[in-house]
Amino acid sequence: MSPRVVLVGLPGSGKTTIGKRLANALRTSVVDTDQLIEKRYGKSCGEVFSELGEEEFRRIEAQTVADALNTDGIVSLGGGAVVTPSNRKLLQDQRVVYLHVSAEEGVRRTAGSDSRPLLNVDDPMSRYEQLLEQRAAYYEEVANLLVNSDGKEPHRVVTDILQFIDDVEHE
Ligand code: S3P
Repeated sequence: MSPRVVLVGLPGSGKTTIGKRLANALRTSVVDTDQLIEKRYGKSCGEVFSELGEEEFRRIEAQTVADALNTDGIVSLGGGAVVTPSNRKLLQDQRVVYLHVSAEEGVRRTAGSDSRPLLNVDDPMSRYEQLLEQRAAYYEEVANLLVNSDGKEPHRVVTDILQFIDDVEHE
């Protein structure tokens, strides 16, 4: 069993929204690793992250990613999942879409969210730029398709991804 597609990208890149729309369009399920963690711990992902610390969170996240990749719908990964080498290795065998977003747009979309401790800082723009710089190479390494979601309506992002899935499934 393998997902039709796995979505990666920074917080605010649209993974949750696009994942749901893709699942609707393809009449399949969507699994979000943050939500699996929330269910397991009975609290928000941000709380789990803050309470356990990043190292322990990444360990739990890696188990969750492995479980999620064993499903056959759409899988959406937490923004930092790609920093863990075992996750990147698992993603080598998957169809991965990197939802790219600029720092300006990403910060705008995540503003006011208290569920993202990494961005809950005095200067979220610098933090976001730093995350983008640290992770861009990882996202690009694992991705088979990059979709720029800046200023793009969600339905157009979905259309691009559906086209990609159709192409690879009919290769
Ligand atoms: C994180 C992103 C979050 C969540 C956790 C850590 C990150 O997911 O997994 O707070 O390191 O970028 P989203 O990308 O869904 O916000």
